[in-house]
Amino acid sequence: MMTYKEERLLDVSKQFQIYGEIQHAEPCKIGHINETYTATYNQGGVLVRYIHQRINTGVFQKPQDVMDNVARVTRHLRQKLVVADEDDITRKALVIIPTHSGKSYYRNHSGECWRTFVFIENAQTFETVQSPEQAYEAAFAFGRFQCLLADLPGKRLAETIPDFHNTRKRFIALQDAVRADTRNRAKEAASEIAFALKQEPIVDVLLDALKRGEVPERITHNDTKFNNVMLDNATGKALAVVDLDTVMPGLVHYDFGDMVRTTTSPTAEDELDLSKVRMQMPMFKALARGYIEAASPFLKKKEKSFIAFAGKLITYTIGIRFLTDFLQGDTYFRVHRPHHNLDRCRAQFKLVESIVKHEDAMQKYVDSL
Ligand SMILES: Nc1ncnc2c1ncn2[C@@H]1O[C@H](COP(=O)(O)OP(=O)(O)O)[C@@H](O)[C@H]1O
Ligand SMILES: [Mg+2]
Repeated sequence: MMTYKEERLLDVSKQFQIYGEIQHAEPCKIGHINETYTATYNQGGVLVRYIHQRINTGVFQKPQDVMDNVARVTRHLRQKLVVADEDDITRKALVIIPTHSGKSYYRNHSGECWRTFVFIENAQTFETVQSPEQAYEAAFAFGRFQCLLADLPGKRLAETIPDFHNTRKRFIALQDAVRADTRNRAKEAASEIAFALKQEPIVDVLLDALKRGEVPERITHNDTKFNNVMLDNATGKALAVVDLDTVMPGLVHYDFGDMVRTTTSPTAEDELDLSKVRMQMPMFKALARGYIEAASPFLKKKEKSFIAFAGKLITYTIGIRFLTDFLQGDTYFRVHRPHHNLDRCRAQFKLVESIVKHEDAMQKYVDSL
């Protein structure tokens, strides 16, 4: 019996190459971007679960590009794992279930786009990192992900969100939002705006290094939050990296920097008690070790030299994105309370300040690896 009554999910369930009848489905996560459901099917008397996920076409206006990227990347990861003779491959790389007509996603009559993945069983994601061991696992998983994709053949992946981590463009967008101040919110955020503008000297550091050819463009995940790594329930080891919408050409630093942002503080990204927000050196060390260990087969010397700096840059960049969205009326990030984006921004900027206090030690540690 179908206990989850939502009609559209029943319709979605019929579109994919899944054998058996849907029994029930429940929301797994209604996040910033996607809507994710866990659906249980009866396949010849055995209950098997799948993930049905609605793509946010407000953010990803070309779902075909997103899914072409995801399909190429997951296929390549799988091939590499097969060649490496790994076991349990279906839990280590996402598997797309195609529609009956062989497409990687389904567009329904009202324009919603849905995709389906094999459900990774006996694994879970955590919102916040709970130990340096977990930080190590996550960093290793993202480093490995980049490493396995370093030789992806074929044309450049689509840029699903152009200039996603382009800090200069984000900085200009912030300046524009401050100037326009359409919601009359700039005065509430005056000290955050001042902080953001004062950091301008760091804005172009990586972009300039890219221009000079010191760091190469690679295939990166671009959303390396800790909650995008599935950890094995039994061993605590990282299995798979999920949330591949933003896989595209980028700098490895963006991925590592976002790990520093989401992993080194014991707090959630919207923590209200700023006294709790801080960069913990043991977490950073675990991240750096895990990442460098996995990425060392491809990482160039010059690329590595910017790894420690990346945390500050990306935490700052995401901070100004939250700030810009706050000023523009919360149109990009889903908010659950008034000032949510401003709270998120404050937590990011507090973390930037904490990183600055440790930056010499961070650099020294990465250089020692
Ligand atoms: N294939 C999968 N198997 C099991 N759980 C999954 C799978 N894909 C995603 N999830 C779970 O759903 C959550 C949300 O999926 P994700 O793709 O990260 O979307 P969002 O953009 O909302 O973060 C993940 O954090 C993970 O817990
Ligand atoms: Mg996610």
